[in-house]
Amino acid sequence: MTISVSDLEAQLSQLQDEALGAIASAAALDDLEKLRVRFLGKKGEVSKILGGMGKLDGKDRPVIGKKANEVKTALTNGLDEKRTDLQKTALEAQLKAEVLDVTMPGTYATQGRAHPLNSTIDRLLDILVGLGYTVASGPEMESDYYNFESLNTPPDHPARDMQDTFYLPDGNLLRTHTSAVQIRYMENNEPPIRVVAPGRVYRRDTVDATHSAVFHQLELLAVDEGLTFGDLKGTVKTFLKEIFGDLPIRFRASYFPFTEPSAEVDVQWQGKWLEVMGCGMVDPNVMKAVGYDSEKYTGFAAGLGIERFAMVLHQMDDIRRLYGSDLRFLRQF
Ligand code: DAH
Repeated sequence: MTISVSDLEAQLSQLQDEALGAIASAAALDDLEKLRVRFLGKKGEVSKILGGMGKLDGKDRPVIGKKANEVKTALTNGLDEKRTDLQKTALEAQLKAEVLDVTMPGTYATQGRAHPLNSTIDRLLDILVGLGYTVASGPEMESDYYNFESLNTPPDHPARDMQDTFYLPDGNLLRTHTSAVQIRYMENNEPPIRVVAPGRVYRRDTVDATHSAVFHQLELLAVDEGLTFGDLKGTVKTFLKEIFGDLPIRFRASYFPFTEPSAEVDVQWQGKWLEVMGCGMVDPNVMKAVGYDSEKYTGFAAGLGIERFAMVLHQMDDIRRLYGSDLRFLRQF
């Protein structure tokens, strides 16, 4: 069977009309792709018609080739236009469906916050870490040795009365101060030492506005060659100035078994001197307890009550508020 040029041309024209019609009525991008494959694909309808070219006279082939290219271009353009069209419609529909009304009132989500005790600890630690101190910790259940004996406080020492202790049935105790961490840290580290240890401590105190059976302390310890009381004062002053700004402070001679000399530091607040920490030069007996050469090294230490700092910083008058979990109170911070 022979095929005439005009036959093929007619077929191509007809195919073009049919294809453009289908493209025009395509409703989705998926459909367009199917049409592209159906008409322009390798095994598509255009190719099928062109398969008949072999039977054409050599001189006629360019005529059909040209016509085929025109059809392909027409279909490609048709597909492109329709695709742009459909994409635009889809985008418009999406924009319409997903309207964002920026004037709508938001939904309120309650926000958590740090407890004033924790934020006070964070603030103290920030300053001390800035001064070069490392943060350490120790157990809350302690042995008599770490809480007292190694801190130059033997069993019959009158200073034990300063801290009314919770003893446990097994002979251990709940630590009465964070000073116990000094010993644990020195046992495991060599000088030079710059360490701070915040933590919970326990005393058999009657609970009132300024006392609690459980409270928090922060211990500070520095051991090195040549440390003096001047270094202690400088450190404490720098630290307190960072926390309290220009509130006046004073050092008052005091006594602790584990420091010699010892002092207490007061801050003038609301017209009164308020004691905020104990401190002193590490007693040589404490150095000996951990095997340090007390001829070579000196050190200073300090211990402060974190609740007291929180109360001054936040103008609180009752320590019990800090443990009450009253959200009306806590939300103020
Ligand atoms: N541990 C003492 C107390 O709880 C406070 C204290 C005083 C700690 C002097 C020290 C210090 O490190 O040097 O009352």
